[in-house]
Amino acid sequence: MKENILEKINQAPVDEPDRQYYFMELARGLVEEKSKAAGRKLTFCVVTFGCQMNARDSEKLEGILEQVGYMKSEDENSDFVIYNTCTVRENANLRVYGRLGSLNRMKQNNPHMMIGLCGCMMQEPHVIEKLRKSYRFVNLVFGTHNIYKFAELLVQTLVQETMVIDIWKDTDKIVEDLPVDRKYAFKSGVNIMFGCNNFCSYCIVPYVRGRERSRAPKDILKEIELLVADGVKEVMLLGQNVNSYGKNLEDPITFARLLEEIVKIEGLKRVRFMTSHPKDLSDELIEVMGKYPKICNHLHLPLQSGSTKILKVMNRHYTKEQYLKLVEKLRKAVPDISLTTDIIVGFPGETEEDFEETMDVVRQVRFDSAFTFIYSKRSGTPAADMDTQVPDAVIKERFGRLLKEVQKISAEETGRLAGTVQEVLVEGTNDHDPSLVTGRMTNNLLVHFPGDESMIGTFRRVSLDNCKGFYYIGTERR
Ligand code: SAH
Ligand code: SF4
Ligand code: F3S
Repeated sequence: MKENILEKINQAPVDEPDRQYYFMELARGLVEEKSKAAGRKLTFCVVTFGCQMNARDSEKLEGILEQVGYMKSEDENSDFVIYNTCTVRENANLRVYGRLGSLNRMKQNNPHMMIGLCGCMMQEPHVIEKLRKSYRFVNLVFGTHNIYKFAELLVQTLVQETMVIDIWKDTDKIVEDLPVDRKYAFKSGVNIMFGCNNFCSYCIVPYVRGRERSRAPKDILKEIELLVADGVKEVMLLGQNVNSYGKNLEDPITFARLLEEIVKIEGLKRVRFMTSHPKDLSDELIEVMGKYPKICNHLHLPLQSGSTKILKVMNRHYTKEQYLKLVEKLRKAVPDISLTTDIIVGFPGETEEDFEETMDVVRQVRFDSAFTFIYSKRSGTPAADMDTQVPDAVIKERFGRLLKEVQKISAEETGRLAGTVQEVLVEGTNDHDPSLVTGRMTNNLLVHFPGDESMIGTFRRVSLDNCKGFYYIGTERR
């Protein structure tokens, strides 16, 4: 049988995505055999760490696993477990190692279990070394650049006894038209670009996701049209820096122009995007955001620091004043826009004065919400080698102060819509109270209100009766 399959592997077509569909066929046969031997249907579980990009990648992995005959499960005690990892901060890495230990114990009780690791953490050579040495029970390891050839790697893993490792340094390849298993029927992420060229001095992402590559507008539009035909009402355009979309295409196009094409798609009701880098947020984009109601009333605009001095060392290419000016322009063009942000506390060299500048921006802008992070040293990035690291105790104290301020403002800002009626897209039933459903407003806020499962994926008008800090309790207005 083995020889037969090796021969088949050698006969695979070279062109993509045909090659991957060929391997899906092969994998289907192998999974069927395994399933017969086990006397039951085999299950898989993909666990996602990190950002929306990783979540979207996981949907692609799941699409292929379903295609080859595995059955989806939420239980990690499955026959094929994949951890799609993140390495943006140290604790993300530690979590993976910890969980691998318990996975190994499950594997000892299930002879069919296979373990796969992929995602950003796998792009770091020291991680691979550690896995080779101390985590021999892992079956498959691959990175971010070759995720499109998962079907091929899957076949290799199913026939090979030893650990399969395939990591690429970088790629300029984008493979279209592979299967995807969407988590939600009514909304979807859509990659518009991959990688990042910004090299913010603290950030590992450019090293693990490679150089910036934009998808062709026609491929993006086609994907969204197909999604809409399949019931999707809201899309989230994904990229590390969507504002520099299209710059490296043969026929360059701006992100604002792409948005204008996307909003024309009939049946599509809402468009969101993430993430925007302040340095590339153009007047053209601000204008487009104000012009089209389909573009959601929300912008995630990472600040990182309010100190111009720190921003310079972070390699962010904007000043405190420029950031504040952008916010002013946005609020003028898109009244009532919800602004959210990311802030890092304790970047090397951050003094009390620098931190106060951050607090000042927080108070002036009054973000609807802010993700606050303690600076995490990522080896290989310029900031990790700076000899001005801030002591942990100082960082913790500042972090506490920032979090308190951010939460106070966020609760006040959330409350400003109390008593109004808003259109929401119903996303699901409430985990704690099944008599309630949860709807998302254009500004990304959530409201829980009486309803049932049949409402999922529909738009409803809901009055926001009671603000609970970060969300509302409401009632439907018919
Ligand atoms: N491309 C996005 C962010 C990707 S990472 C952007 O440019 O905004 C998400 C967030 O993680 C960043 O905005 C930053 O706030 C945080 N982050 C990145 N590297 C970090 C580090 N070394 N320590 C702490 N937080 C970090
Ligand atoms: Fe990291 Fe900066 Fe790129 Fe965002 S823009 S992914 S923070 S390097
Ligand atoms: Fe993490 Fe990779 Fe996203 S490092 S934040 S999963 S791009």
